[in-house]
Amino acid sequence: MSQDTHIKIHPLLTSFSLAGIPLKNRVAVAPMSRVSTSGDGVPTEKMRDYYTSFAKGQFGMIITEGTYTDQAQSQAYAHQPGIVTQAQIQAWRTLVQSVHTAGASIFLQLMHAGALSQENHYRTHTLAPSAVLPKGEKMPEYGGQGPFSVPEAMSEKHILEAIEGFAQSAVNARDAGFDGVEVHGANGYLLDQFITNYTNRRTDRYGGSIKGRIRFAVEVVEAIRLAVGKEYPLGMRLSQTKVNDFVYRWPGGQKDGEVIFSALAEAGVSYLHLASEGRDWRKTASIADGVTITQLARKVAHIPVIANGGMHDPSLAEQIINEGHADMISLARGALVHADWPQRVAQGLALEAFDPEILHPRATIENALRWRTLRERH
Ligand SMILES: Cc1cc2nc3c(=O)[nH]c(=O)nc-3n(C[C@H](O)[C@H](O)[C@H](O)COP(=O)(O)O)c2cc1C
Repeated sequence: MSQDTHIKIHPLLTSFSLAGIPLKNRVAVAPMSRVSTSGDGVPTEKMRDYYTSFAKGQFGMIITEGTYTDQAQSQAYAHQPGIVTQAQIQAWRTLVQSVHTAGASIFLQLMHAGALSQENHYRTHTLAPSAVLPKGEKMPEYGGQGPFSVPEAMSEKHILEAIEGFAQSAVNARDAGFDGVEVHGANGYLLDQFITNYTNRRTDRYGGSIKGRIRFAVEVVEAIRLAVGKEYPLGMRLSQTKVNDFVYRWPGGQKDGEVIFSALAEAGVSYLHLASEGRDWRKTASIADGVTITQLARKVAHIPVIANGGMHDPSLAEQIINEGHADMISLARGALVHADWPQRVAQGLALEAFDPEILHPRATIENALRWRTLRERH
């Protein structure tokens, strides 16, 4: 090929195999709560069209919004989807088929809110590792208002129930046709409440040092593995920052990272997804001199790693892949602006900046559609 006919392919747009699932590129839609079910946790046709639009826009992989895992304590927001009832499973099945037909793979994010539950259809009180009042306030864009309540500290029985919810939900997700599941261990929700030192004051085997604080996440992974077998793709999302704390860092730094990543890999996760809630990767990635958190995860766990946070900048995304910081990237806000982001990058088309109005006053799909219509009129 002569020099002038040579077309440079963005490294993100090369194919990748994630836990045996062939992906057409290395760009995933990051999980985004859209609080858009009709109230019974059943995914709607609007949600089907929303997820399918990313597949049509050439994203190789889509990770759904955080989805609750039981009819007890896990629900985070009103209008959040679940993967528990037959009606929920059936609606997800239809949605998955539509995404597959449009050519993308789709993973379900399994989420337990713990102390950060803003509204729960099934229960009025919250459970968490310890009875610690969460920092910050409920988020209005997900329908919340005012302070969180003080959770009840989980008993061993509560812990077992939560773990069973994750395992059964993974089975339900597989039945609905999902290519895999991703456990939400990030952003301050239940698993992260166990990992974080100030929300976990337990003195039993689930607390204390980082080896104790990671135990709950490990047992969730082990239970899912027992339920779905060794081969089913199973990821874990982690972060240091949280929706209600943008500055927290693992107190043991690189040493904590090594314990966390190796324990999860040993328990059987197929990939790790490092989120940057409230910040971009450049601001959260450094974990030791010259070492990024995603590089460390790759080195310790020897499994694929997805980097997240500000990756809608194609030059940052290129650097991440070329310098070996991660195997894939995921986009949240960038995918909301452009459901066809990978296609646009392939064609060298302009990219618009994120407009927070997409999520105001509510982070719903309906609101985003309204924003789009208004923008097209002007
Ligand atoms: C509307 C919205 C909803 C989100 N919901 C979730 C969620 O359900 N689960 C999750 O792990 N992260 C969630 N996040 C965090 C994003 O996945 C991502 O980590 C963050 O926005 C930073 O990535 P970005 O720079 O690509 O936007 C959400 C973010 C947004 C903007």
